[in-house]
Amino acid sequence: MTTDVTDIAVGAIRSGLLGSGFMARVHSSAARTAGAVLVGVATSSPDRAEAAAAALGVARAEVDAAALLAASDIDVVHICTPNATHAALALAALRAGKHVVCEKPLATDVADARALVEAAAERGVVTAVPFVYRYHPMVREARARVAGGEVGTLLSIDAAYLQDWMLLPGDENWRADAAAGGPSRAFADIGSHLCDLVEFVAGERIARLTARTRRVFERRGDGAVTNEDIAALLVETESGAVGTLLVSQMAPGRKNALVLELHGSSESLRFEQERPEELWIGDRAGSRLLLRDPATAAPDSARLQRVPAGHPMGYQDAFDGFIADVYAAVAGETPDGLPTFADGLRAAVLTAAVLESAESRSWIEVPA
Ligand SMILES: NC(=O)c1ccc[n+]([C@@H]2O[C@H](COP(=O)([O-])OP(=O)(O)OC[C@H]3O[C@@H](n4cnc5c(N)ncnc54)[C@H](O)[C@@H]3O)[C@@H](O)[C@H]2O)c1
Repeated sequence: MTTDVTDIAVGAIRSGLLGSGFMARVHSSAARTAGAVLVGVATSSPDRAEAAAAALGVARAEVDAAALLAASDIDVVHICTPNATHAALALAALRAGKHVVCEKPLATDVADARALVEAAAERGVVTAVPFVYRYHPMVREARARVAGGEVGTLLSIDAAYLQDWMLLPGDENWRADAAAGGPSRAFADIGSHLCDLVEFVAGERIARLTARTRRVFERRGDGAVTNEDIAALLVETESGAVGTLLVSQMAPGRKNALVLELHGSSESLRFEQERPEELWIGDRAGSRLLLRDPATAAPDSARLQRVPAGHPMGYQDAFDGFIADVYAAVAGETPDGLPTFADGLRAAVLTAAVLESAESRSWIEVPA
């Protein structure tokens, strides 16, 4: 089904998609839920764009990214392409005056990420990077408990992000080639989400880290592997909390196991992304599972709860909440906790620190 662009309501936000893979499907669904009109899509070829327009219900297939960015009837561009293309596409989109949602990693090095932050500030447009796990209501609940003092002084962090989709030597993907995926794979791909969540919930930054990385196979299928499969980090935060973070795309049986556990002087909190309806709260007297319920939630958690208690919310719901906030920002609001290009730059800085530490086998002070 295609949309007739002449039917677009006055004032509706008009969106364009770059890419038509997994994330383009997630973005297009969320954009439509937020009330946007999907005006154009471009992919790596005109034929694929035609197929994507039909599959995703987008009004127009564009011949390439340049054509989509030149379109005057597109306000917001969603960049859902391989990592190494992000920086150039995002810069071109900013120069074309678009609001930009760019998938992580925002750029594959710090200089490019910083240039994007500067270019966005000059133009005053809305920018966003989908650190989408911020949009699980129980993550906001955890953040509110830290900010409200229930957790006490942060002592330690136990966190991991584990997957198994790259377990076998025949498991291939463009991400394993640094030319398309960037010099870091596991950390930039999923460790960036984990660090973003640590800093978002804890309300403070990782000040220093030491990392070890591991590349298990030198080749996958026909291609050389030129980035890491696994990263293990020791971290220390600004306030002195210490923590361990394990990031792997070769952990058998683990599919999307992002787990964040914080230990404070009063209580501990544990959030598991695969059980997003729950927050485990522990103290000396016992422990309990807090279940998502808008009736009792912290305000910032309640506002993201799209269905009543007992009606499970998941990944797409979190993404819908994220995109709703992006479009609210485009409409002039300032939603709390929206991850912007500045957060994408932060992830690039942490990724560079991880790679530098793994190379030098030393502690690295992470630039603020
Ligand atoms: N935020 C999240 O939770 C999350 C989850 C998964 C992936 N991602 C990110 O999303 C991005 C895309 O991942 P994916 O899994 O959808 O990949 P994918 O391989 O499924 O899709 C990539 C798409 O990009 C298109 N493409 C390639 N070069 C292009 C170009 N120059 N112009 C236009 N289109 C082009 C391809 O045709 C394809 O449709 C990656 O950067 C990844 O890190 C984010």
